[in-house]
Parts: sequence; C-alpha cells; structure tokens
Amino acid sequence: MSQTTSAPVASPAGFSDVKGWFWPADQLLFDWFLKRQDRVPEQNGDLLELGAYLGKSAIFIGGYLRPGEEFTVCDLFDSPAPDDPNSAEMGRSYSTLTRRGFEANYLAFHEQLPTVVQAPTSVIGSRLDAGSCRFIHIDASHLYEHVHGDIVAARELAAPDAIVAFDDFRAEHCPGVAAAVWGAVATMELKLICITGTKAYGTWGDPEPARAELLDWLAPRTDLWHGVEEVAGAPLIRIDGKKAKAPTPPQPLRPASETPKAAESPRAPEAAGESGTSGPSTPGPDASAPAAATRGLLARALGRRR
Ligand SMILES: C[S@@+](CC[C@H](N)C(=O)[O-])C[C@H]1O[C@@H](n2cnc3c(N)ncnc32)[C@H](O)[C@@H]1O
Repeated sequence: MSQTTSAPVASPAGFSDVKGWFWPADQLLFDWFLKRQDRVPEQNGDLLELGAYLGKSAIFIGGYLRPGEEFTVCDLFDSPAPDDPNSAEMGRSYSTLTRRGFEANYLAFHEQLPTVVQAPTSVIGSRLDAGSCRFIHIDASHLYEHVHGDIVAARELAAPDAIVAFDDFRAEHCPGVAAAVWGAVATMELKLICITGTKAYGTWGDPEPARAELLDWLAPRTDLWHGVEEVAGAPLIRIDGKKAKAPTPPQPLRPASETPKAAESPRAPEAAGESGTSGPSTPGPDASAPAAATRGLLARALGRRR
C-alpha cells in the first residue's frame, strides 16, 4: 500500500459527494462481476484500475479487495502527460486534478490507500506480474494509441477468466476508445460479455459461464432492460441502465459531522447517483469554459460600444 502525500485535504461525507463518471448501471455490474469472482474459488488475483481521477470507481472497486490481494491504481494525477494530445486531453478535462484529492477521497472510505502508480499507463505492464489481475478497469486516456496500449497491457496482466471493463467504448466524443475495443475483439481475441451505455465488459477467458449467469440475474430485474444480439459471431448482452437502481454505496469510515467538505475539482462532473453520459471529455465538461466564453463575448460587446 502507498503512503499518502503531504498535507491532508477535505474529505467527502458520502459516496455521492465523490465526483466521477461511474453510473448506477455500471456500479451494479462491477458489483455483480466482483461478487461472482468470490463465488468462483479459482478466480484469484489482484485488482487494477487505469485512470482513477478523484476515486469514484476506485473507492467502489476497493471494497472487493480480499486479504492478500493488491489493488493498484495508475493515473497521471498532477504529473505531465507523455505526449501533446494526451496533454491537451488532461488540460481539457482534468486540469485541477491532484493526487492528494484522490487520496483524501479514497481514505474517507478505506483505511489504506491502494498501490498508487502516478505515471502514464504505459508503465503498468512493467510494474505488475503477468497474469496477476482478476479485474481490470480501463478508464485512463481516451485516445486510441493509449487505449490500445492499455488493452495490450491488460491482456498480459489478466489472470485466467479475468474481467476487463472498458469505459466510454461507444461515446461520440472519444471514437478512439471504440476503435481500440472493437479492434481488440477483431484481432486480439477479446470476448465481450455485455455492454451498458457507458462501459463494455469482456474477458480473454471463457465468456460463456459469466454470460449465462448474467442473463439469469438480469431476467427478473425491472430496472435494467436487456437484450442479446449476435455481434462478430458471439452473443453480446446489451443492457439499458437508465432506470438502474444503484447498489448500496461504499460507506464512509467516519460520520459526516466529522468530515469537512469533499475534495473536489471545480471542473469535476456531477457526482454520480443518476444515470447520464459517461465521458470526461464530453464537450463542455469545464464549468469555467462557458463563463470564459461569456466574458469574451461581453468584452467584445463592451469594446464595440466604446
Ligand atoms: C475518466 S477519468 C477516470 C474516471 C474514474 N475512473 C471515475 O470513474 O471517476 C480518466 C483519468 O485518466 C487519467 N489519465 C489520462 N491520461 C492518462 C495516461 N496517459 N496515463 C495515466 N492516467 C491518465 C486522468 O488523469 C484521469 O484521472
């Protein structure tokens, strides 16, 4: 486990105070896949998240860590990006993100931090053992080259039958994720099990047992619509989670009265709790941008009046 860095910052009073892009349907599916791994005795391994932001999904995943396992998160946080397009992406969507903000949020829910790799995700393959991870969430850069690299690393790090979740695999604002994920289906033997509006779930193991059990779990649910469609020669479960009822959220370690206001970014998205589009780079995530644009228009108008 990592040590926290320097001075503490404010903590969230509840999971809904943690900013991020982790919606109820995906919370339900993470819960389902991770609990299923508890029922499958041979499903051993560590947990890995590429792209943690302020910890919304990491706090959730950390609740499924079993004794003797390791949870690693890899994020640039406040470090420079490795290339210009990634740097522009960081500036657009995460410019006020700090590692301390992540740590303060995480420690509001867990006694110990995960192992934090503050670096480009391209290092992750050299930091962890091949075949060591049973659950991997890929949610870092949404640019094709990076996502492709993350998928290559995930394939190497995945334990047998590991589940890999891919964020924003079909979002309009980040076509590179779709290209990388479907490219992996076409050329890297990735098998998708199911999709929601915001994430795809797959494996390099045998998808059939999880697919069959998932269909049984979905059948009586009235908050999740589902259907099955043949895609690239395999059945794919489509899930519409707009009405999804989120599972019980992670609980803070201390009561709200003892915690100051949540660590957050002024550019952060709405806290989860209602369904919505995923997407750090959804056009207009920057709350300051409209204000700046308005200021510019005002200045121009005032200039003309002078
Ligand atoms: C979409 S956010 C993660 C959201 C988070 N998983 C959640 O559900 O709230 C993407 C994160 O990826 C990080 N990131 C972007 N490019 C990266 C790179 N090349 N290497 C590591 N992290 C990166 C950003 O700093 C940001 O925190």
